[in-house]
Amino acid sequence: MQFAIVIMAAGKGTRLKSKRPKVLHEVGGKPLIRHVVDAARQIVPPEDIYVIVGHEAGLVRDSVSALGVQFVEQTQQRGTGHAIQTARQAVQGYENVIVLSGDVPLIRPETIRAVRDFHLERRAAMTVLTAAPEDLRGYGRVIRKPNGSDEVQEIVEPKALTPDKEKAREINSGIYGFAGKPLFSHIENLGTDNAHGEFYLTDMAEILVKAGERVVALEAKDPDEVLGANTITEMMAIDGKLRLITARRLMAEGVTIFRPETSVIDSGVMVGPDTVIEPFVQLLGETKVGSECRIRSYSVLEHATVGNHVLVRQGCIISQSRVDDGVLLGPYAHLRPESEIGEGAHVGNFVETKKVRLGKGSKAGHLAYLGDAEIGEGVNVGAGVITCNYDGVAKRKTVIGDNVFVGSDSTLVAPVKLGNGSYIAAGSCITEDVPEDALALGRSRQTIKEGWAAQRRNKKQTL
Ligand code: UD1
Ligand code: CA
Repeated sequence: MQFAIVIMAAGKGTRLKSKRPKVLHEVGGKPLIRHVVDAARQIVPPEDIYVIVGHEAGLVRDSVSALGVQFVEQTQQRGTGHAIQTARQAVQGYENVIVLSGDVPLIRPETIRAVRDFHLERRAAMTVLTAAPEDLRGYGRVIRKPNGSDEVQEIVEPKALTPDKEKAREINSGIYGFAGKPLFSHIENLGTDNAHGEFYLTDMAEILVKAGERVVALEAKDPDEVLGANTITEMMAIDGKLRLITARRLMAEGVTIFRPETSVIDSGVMVGPDTVIEPFVQLLGETKVGSECRIRSYSVLEHATVGNHVLVRQGCIISQSRVDDGVLLGPYAHLRPESEIGEGAHVGNFVETKKVRLGKGSKAGHLAYLGDAEIGEGVNVGAGVITCNYDGVAKRKTVIGDNVFVGSDSTLVAPVKLGNGSYIAAGSCITEDVPEDALALGRSRQTIKEGWAAQRRNKKQTL
């Protein structure tokens, strides 16, 4: 039982002015708490990770409980020091405790490991991860002992800063290593005599120093990594940094991204080399795009799997769907969940699909709705075709064989089957199965009334 990781996530996040608890706000497509838990899981097994929950505890638990972590409930949020006091029962058996903040999401496992190693090497009672960012606002300052020492004198919270201490340019990241014994033998000595009337974990530095224990500081190489997310502005700055990290990773793997600062790409997204991503594209969730594709502007792909040589024209939405090699999509195609678009197929302007399999080389070029349908290979779906899949009670299926021609503006009333090679006349309403190679006409015959229009015009003039 060497190391426990405690993650403080009980606070409300008053500065956000949001109903949602702070740690459930998302950056880079993931809640803050999830970023921190994911990093912690690289260091210790989930049974040694303790998440302190309080404000909206149920929601926070639900967001990470599938990962097998432990929870400690801090019913009243009386400060970061109080949070660790609350965790005492759960973690006092561990030799060392690493404390992470649920609102410092960019922390990398490598850095947590560095804190652990430095803490052990220096045989410290407390190790503070620090940084020297340009903007120090909102952070506690770490005051070191003089003469370039790695030992800390105290941590001073912003509201308690005096002009001389304001000169200290090193901030407290809110990430610490503690030796269990000194931590828990002194933690009850924390007081609330400060601007917020809270128990500050930061006061442990001075308390431990006064008790003759060693408190040391380790500076993070990259100050961005310890950015705190207290306001929406800060969160969006972090989100931008995360997206840019992902865009840079993809570019290093051979993907061209024009104006990467305009794209919104989640960190789990994969894209093959020689694919081009135009400005203002969103690639979200578990989206995978193959190589030599082009994703044109304003397209949004969410949990989409796209093959190679695919052209996604402007303004397409692809969600939870698969698109095979050589497909041509859009502009403005809407692939709703469970659409599978076969090799070389074409789904064009204002075509909506849902739970559909469109076979190899089939085409639906314009203005169609294809839902709950299985469509074979080499099918031509004319402009304005609609699968009437809903009868007011249940969803029903349309099955279209290979090489079928569905004339424009036809309605296919499901359940219905169109046999291989059949031909549907334009404007038909098809309510019965069509045999292979047959022609189906489901419309009234055209009538011609000779001279009718001219007569009407003459009538109007005489009035
Ligand atoms: C804290 C530090 C500050 C540091 C900064 C780094 C203190 C007193 N100050 O300030 O020195 O520079 O982090 O980001 O610790 N929390 C609880 N229970 C509580 C209160 C807070 O679990 O009772 C959790 C919050 O949900 C949050 C974390 O602790 O995830 C930090 O709390 P926050 O109020 O954001 O502290 P800061 O003011 O940012
Ligand atoms: Ca904070």
